[in-house]
Amino acid sequence: MKPPLVVGNWKMHGAESEARRLARRIRRGSGRMRGVEIVLAPPFTALHEVRRVARGSRLALGAQDVHWEAQGAFTGEISPQMLAEAGCSFVIVGHSERRRLFHESNQIVTQKLSAALLSGLRPILCVGETWEERRTGKTMRVIAGQLGTALKGLEKSAIEKVEIAYEPVWAIGTGRNATADQASEVHLRIRSLLKELAGTRIAAGCRILYGGSVRPDNAAELSRAREVSGALVGGASLKAEDFLAIVRCFVP
Ligand code: PGA
Repeated sequence: MKPPLVVGNWKMHGAESEARRLARRIRRGSGRMRGVEIVLAPPFTALHEVRRVARGSRLALGAQDVHWEAQGAFTGEISPQMLAEAGCSFVIVGHSERRRLFHESNQIVTQKLSAALLSGLRPILCVGETWEERRTGKTMRVIAGQLGTALKGLEKSAIEKVEIAYEPVWAIGTGRNATADQASEVHLRIRSLLKELAGTRIAAGCRILYGGSVRPDNAAELSRAREVSGALVGGASLKAEDFLAIVRCFVP
């Protein structure tokens, strides 16, 4: 059984000096938090600095996005190999901000996912419905579509290496989190989709994180929700004490 996983997605926050300070505080505070895997995903430009701070600690490094080619004429993009060399072991793929603001289709997300896996990175695949989709009863269909397209072509052994993050779009950065029941309902569905795609044993080993307005005051309840095996934290990961309080809720 894999340990719970808590990921701090710093988004476009954290110039080098700020990133160093935040990473140091998190390192100091997380020393005794055993039994939980912690990943920091700073902006690309701070990866080097955060790697330096995290060296020899229990903190792992993640990136927020990746391109699917190894190299080439793709101005502004970063390849999986470059991330691996920069010390990343995780990468977020298909975050709703990428899908929405940068027009990433399920097809692009699939390419990114496969490329990340080929380079030995552990992708954190984000799926989630908009409020309109939830309101009109389409949540499960949307999740099944996103998950199905992304995982369809993968070997079962590769699916085992994918972390899934359920992030309802309406909960991201809004202060309005899904309830534990709403999260469980979708996580259960994701687990059963994983079973169909990869079989019971592999599906049982996959981690399904919840993301969307996770804060110190709701993390304990969300951590106890059925099928929730960790959290993807945005806003609250920018304050060391808040992020650490959330991680603490997931310590077994
Ligand atoms: P939030 O963001 O915690 O600020 O809602 C979560 C995410 O975007 O991963």
